[in-house]
Amino acid sequence: MTKRLLIKGARVLCPANRIDSTMDILLESEKIKDIGLNLNVTENVMTIDASGLMLAPGFIDLHCHLREPGFEHKETVKSGSAAAIKGGFTTICAMPNTDPVTDDATSIQFLIDKAKGQPVRVLPIGSATKNSEGKELTEMAEMVEVGAVAFSDDGHPIANDMLMRHALEYSSALGVPIIDHCEVPSLFTNGQINEGWIASRLGLQGIPSAAEEQMVDRNIGLAKLTGGWVHLAHVSTKGSVESIRNAKELGINITAEVTPHHLTLTEDAILHGINQEGAYKALNENAYNTMAKVNPPLRTQADVEALIEGLSDGTIDIIATDHAPHASIEKLCPMQEAAFGISNLETTLASALSLVHNKKLSLNRMIESVTSSPAALLKASNNKIGQLTKGFSADLTLFDLDADWIVDVDQFVSKGKNSPLNGEKMKGKVVLTVYKGQIVYSNISKDLVSK
Ligand code: DOR
Repeated sequence: MTKRLLIKGARVLCPANRIDSTMDILLESEKIKDIGLNLNVTENVMTIDASGLMLAPGFIDLHCHLREPGFEHKETVKSGSAAAIKGGFTTICAMPNTDPVTDDATSIQFLIDKAKGQPVRVLPIGSATKNSEGKELTEMAEMVEVGAVAFSDDGHPIANDMLMRHALEYSSALGVPIIDHCEVPSLFTNGQINEGWIASRLGLQGIPSAAEEQMVDRNIGLAKLTGGWVHLAHVSTKGSVESIRNAKELGINITAEVTPHHLTLTEDAILHGINQEGAYKALNENAYNTMAKVNPPLRTQADVEALIEGLSDGTIDIIATDHAPHASIEKLCPMQEAAFGISNLETTLASALSLVHNKKLSLNRMIESVTSSPAALLKASNNKIGQLTKGFSADLTLFDLDADWIVDVDQFVSKGKNSPLNGEKMKGKVVLTVYKGQIVYSNISKDLVSK
């Protein structure tokens, strides 16, 4: 009989069950067996003294890039899974912009097979159109049958209105969302960073907020027309938040996500400014930091504040990492040639907690936005995840709310070392990750474990 795991005395946070108190939790045979005060278990058990630590359901990421097949120099299912558990994630959803694109049942099955034996649950997102070219819909039903949990042409919008209408009609019949990367191609042109004074100063083509907002409004219109479910990827502007809020008030079937970088960084990061309080590191006004080049781009302080407010009041449903690992050579180059994206899995918790420490977001809502809220969007997956309830999967994240640390990308287990946070001081760190009752990542002092 495999050993049971008893975690004692943590501050247990489970928004779905309205729990925020000191408790014990017992895990047995991959499931949560019991949760309560002073659980007294002595036989066949490994006990962890977690007093002073926070215990939450294992984090769930609805949007990450694992790059396999085709871009294994950036990340693999194995290296991405290792980064996920180090960041406290026990479920991750992989975007289909691989080579070949994940656009049929065989390629979904490839990912499922690759994910077998990994220390994290990997759920595939299929492409909505063949080769993500936006011309012809994929065989969605076949992909859902094999295990796809959503559809997206990630990295590209589904720009053709009629095709998007049909995609919504099919996907809603299957009970899964179309995740749209909202961007009007003709407004995006050759944009590199947010349209504004920094783009002008650096002589770079800007990406206007309207490129995103017009596509958000188009999607809201089509969700209203079809009753289909649109999930808006990585929302980045104040105008998008306002449109989503209005649409939700009208009962339109949309959900939305925000990334840790859009919640905590502004376009100033392009000039090496790290966050709204941070000082500029580079004195050379022409210097720029390609690590902060991401799509959609980092925006302004007013946008950041609107996104935080939107996440707080539930207009935005979840935090998703958009973990986008790239090789150094793809970032250490001129801005116009640099890839879009940030390697995020290992810093997301600390970024999100910075909002909690600064009293801009409640701890409860922060945890909800990476646990029960994303679980509620994974309707096609029959896994019992995202809450600490008897019988649910024994997926847990134990973290230290106040641990100080400094981001060092050389310590990332992700192959992607591309982070604008390198060298930044952070507060809050994962101490232990448990997946299906097994410790898959541990940074806990041995003195606190008794076998
Ligand atoms: O910055 C980004 N990187 N945004 C995307 O939409 C795609 C992603 C990637 O795949 O690198």
